[in-house]
Amino acid sequence: MNGNRACLQCHDKFLANPTAHTRHRGDSSGSACYNCHMPYTTYGLLKTIRSHTVSSPSVAESIESGRPNACNLCHLDKTLAWTGDALARWYGRPRVEAPLGDDDRTIAASLLWLLRGDAGQRAIAAQAMGWEPPGASRAQTGWRPISRRSLTIPYDAVRFIASRSLATLPGFDALSYDFVAPQAERHQAQLRTMSLWDRTRRRSRPGNPQLLFETEGNVNVAAVLRLLTERNTRRVLLRE
Ligand code: HEC
Ligand code: HEC
Ligand code: HEC
Repeated sequence: MNGNRACLQCHDKFLANPTAHTRHRGDSSGSACYNCHMPYTTYGLLKTIRSHTVSSPSVAESIESGRPNACNLCHLDKTLAWTGDALARWYGRPRVEAPLGDDDRTIAASLLWLLRGDAGQRAIAAQAMGWEPPGASRAQTGWRPISRRSLTIPYDAVRFIASRSLATLPGFDALSYDFVAPQAERHQAQLRTMSLWDRTRRRSRPGNPQLLFETEGNVNVAAVLRLLTERNTRRVLLRE
């Protein structure tokens, strides 16, 4: 069964006015039950799939277990603090002020997962950056801020997912990238990505500190490098 009826057949208290609960326009992808309650947080077979465990978006959970929440997987340009505020405002969730670090207030959560996260978080963030939920426009769900650095990630699978997402950006569809090529070749591909980026960025990107872009789209290199040195390199083994 497709659509919200799959859930509303049981959860009929939301039938009369679902948007009072979802807080997004009725036709918005942000109003689909499974987009908030079954986000793409399970990794398998070189992609992420929807979690088969129904849960609700929670900032506390993202901090404690590291599991990316549904809100920040769509709102790629927003911080964890932004999500915490919205959950408090809309659902009366207690604000989780204490455990939020400075980065959680100032840098988009998707970038923190991509640059500093463990291999699982990187895969989940990289895939979210290539996801265009039906009905959403890029402007609404945020820019896909894929850093060329994701192509250097020391996990074949994450590089594969990142390059596939990168190819969804206008101008990047013809990018040839072999995620298991020798390091020198991958480095060349990375340089080509960077020069493509340089050619398009000034036209399209005003500065946005949350996305680590200074004015006119220059990358805040110091912040990117700091996050990379803080990267969680714990070994992740996934059975498929
Ligand atoms: C066959 C009936 C049925 C269907 C279909 C169903 N649910 Fe539920 N759901 C339940 C029941 C029963 C509970 C437990 C209610 C309780 O404990 O008060 C529940 C609980 C929940 C909860 C609360 C979980 C928690 O930990 O508190 C959420 C969120 C939820 N469902 C979302 C969904 C979504 C989203 C869908 C569609 C993808 C869905 N449900 C489909 C019956 C259903
Ligand atoms: C924009 C995100 C979002 C969407 C879309 C959404 N929910 Fe929720 N839902 C939440 C959040 C956040 C909570 C937890 C609220 C809380 O902590 O009390 C929640 C809680 C619930 C609960 C458990 C609490 C309760 O009030 O019974 C159920 C059941 C539920 N949602 C069902 C649904 C169904 C059915 C849909 C589709 C019509 C849906 N949700 C769409 C965010 C969403
Ligand atoms: C599947 C993608 C998706 C998910 C999940 C999602 N949103 Fe949205 N959100 C959108 C889209 C698309 C819009 C544009 C306006 C609309 O459709 O209502 C939007 C608009 C908004 C807006 C108003 C515009 C803005 O940018 O300030 C807020 C606030 C917001 N969402 C918060 C949340 C929160 C909080 C959650 C999690 C509980 C969430 N969203 C989950 C896609 C999503």
